[in-house]
Amino acid sequence: MNSKRYTVTAALPYTNGPIHIGHLAGVYIPSDIYVRYLRLVNRDVIYICGSDEHGVAISIKAKNEGLSPKDIIDKYHLNIKNSFQEFGISFDNYSRTSNKIHHETASEFFSLLHGKKKLIEKTSDQLYDPKMNQFLADRFVVGECPECSSKDAYGDQCEKCGTSLNAIDLINPKSTISGSDPILKKTKHWFLPLNNYEDFIKEFILVNHKYDWKSNVYGQVKSWIENGLKPRAITRDLDWGIKVPLKNAKGKVLYVWFDAPIGYISSTKEWGEINNKDWKPYWQDKKTTLVHFIGKDNIVFHCIIFPSILKAIGSYILPTNVPANEFLNLEGEKISTSKNWAVWLPNYLKDFKDKQDVLRYVLTVNLPENKDSDFTWDDFQNKNNNELVAIFGNFINRVTVLTHKYFKGKVPKQDELTENDKKIITRLNKFPKSIGLNIENFKFRDGCFEMMNLARMGNKYLADEEPWKKIKSDPQRVKTIINLSLQIAASLSILCEPFLPFTSKKLKSILKIEKNIRWNELSKNHILLKINHKINDSELLFDKIEDKEIELQVRKLRKD
Ligand code: MF3
Ligand code: ZN
Repeated sequence: MNSKRYTVTAALPYTNGPIHIGHLAGVYIPSDIYVRYLRLVNRDVIYICGSDEHGVAISIKAKNEGLSPKDIIDKYHLNIKNSFQEFGISFDNYSRTSNKIHHETASEFFSLLHGKKKLIEKTSDQLYDPKMNQFLADRFVVGECPECSSKDAYGDQCEKCGTSLNAIDLINPKSTISGSDPILKKTKHWFLPLNNYEDFIKEFILVNHKYDWKSNVYGQVKSWIENGLKPRAITRDLDWGIKVPLKNAKGKVLYVWFDAPIGYISSTKEWGEINNKDWKPYWQDKKTTLVHFIGKDNIVFHCIIFPSILKAIGSYILPTNVPANEFLNLEGEKISTSKNWAVWLPNYLKDFKDKQDVLRYVLTVNLPENKDSDFTWDDFQNKNNNELVAIFGNFINRVTVLTHKYFKGKVPKQDELTENDKKIITRLNKFPKSIGLNIENFKFRDGCFEMMNLARMGNKYLADEEPWKKIKSDPQRVKTIINLSLQIAASLSILCEPFLPFTSKKLKSILKIEKNIRWNELSKNHILLKINHKINDSELLFDKIEDKEIELQVRKLRKD
């Protein structure tokens, strides 16, 4: 890592429902770990997100609930914003695409492209629902995917194989609003000629990021390029969205996937206004590292379409990495909003109060980084009881209780070090680097596993040294053991912060660590707690989760 400035974005969630564990594992947990770490190593980082409030997903939800799109976005924007906050997702700004600043920014992007003659204006046949008197695009139409033959591809994308589509490419299309067979009708739209950007994308990704991007992302991009890119409409005949800023464009709005990624930029502008900072270096200085966290169904938009738009506008940086994740399943089945097969974040927060870190932990060690993964309630209980409680919590509890019992809560003085002590100190000093490298390389599972190895090491050190046996025969030795165990606990309080921010805070308060300790200081000096420093009363970091709590969750899942 040589860049000091980072712009980190997390996919803007659609405001058509609450956040579920699939969103968390795909996007928000990995990005939050990444930025928390960057802050600890003193980088200048902004973490940007917001609500994605246009598009057909919102209109459909509104229609189903008999509400207006505005009612829907207001309801879920608040719901999503609050649950992220309660869950500790540490955005520097959470905006929304219905804000004025976003409408202005997205319109300006369109006008700039239009002014630079980068768009094609074309009247062509599009799908039309004769019953509803409405053009059909995106999620208003389903049909067979011409690439993989999946039966339920949408008008703009097949979620099965990820291919981006134009609605007229679908085989046997059906309107999702009326179920009827669409007819063809002429209408005018503005197209981005992606075919003109093939060489650019080839160079940008296939040549320059062959080795540093995840193979799932690289592979998808490669196969699209090989299939050839086609012009893509960036406007729609809809009443919900950002109006096309041209005189001859009545009834036309910007395609949601045109405006949404620009939302990262408008959210950054908003952040600049609130914090009195200049937003431009975060998007226009070539030394800035730009990272987009997304799920795999968003790859085409972030790796091909948005970079082509930025390239056409000029003066913007391109992403340094797009570490897209695969999908998380739930109890072996695909998460489905319509079938209510999901664990919803607001429900979790209600049922497991103050247990944010348990879900964070279980999802982190299970992230679908290279292939789809699975969340089960059994595994959730196991990982809590056998890892967080039995290893991490147990170690901290033992060392803090013993400090109070033997030394009135004060850090005892280290005496002569044994071979084992020296080995432990050498290992201790290596953790910041090994955890950090994993995080920098987007290997959050491994990073989290390594952090737990530090807790394991502390736990084993105490078990091997048995201070409770030595206190009578060799009290001098116990001082060293407890001192060293406390230093391990102190390191852990910093190194667990990216993964377990609530636990980190609690542990720091138990150990009474008040100053800000930077990650990199840790490998140089393992003495974080001075002799005679008094710690606070010991407290349990994690509690056991009982069978009946898990049974309740499983019942809920199967029922409603
Ligand atoms: N709302 C989209 C989804 O949930 C993601 C939008 S990401 C952005 O799939 F780049 F457009 F912002
Ligand atoms: Zn497909």
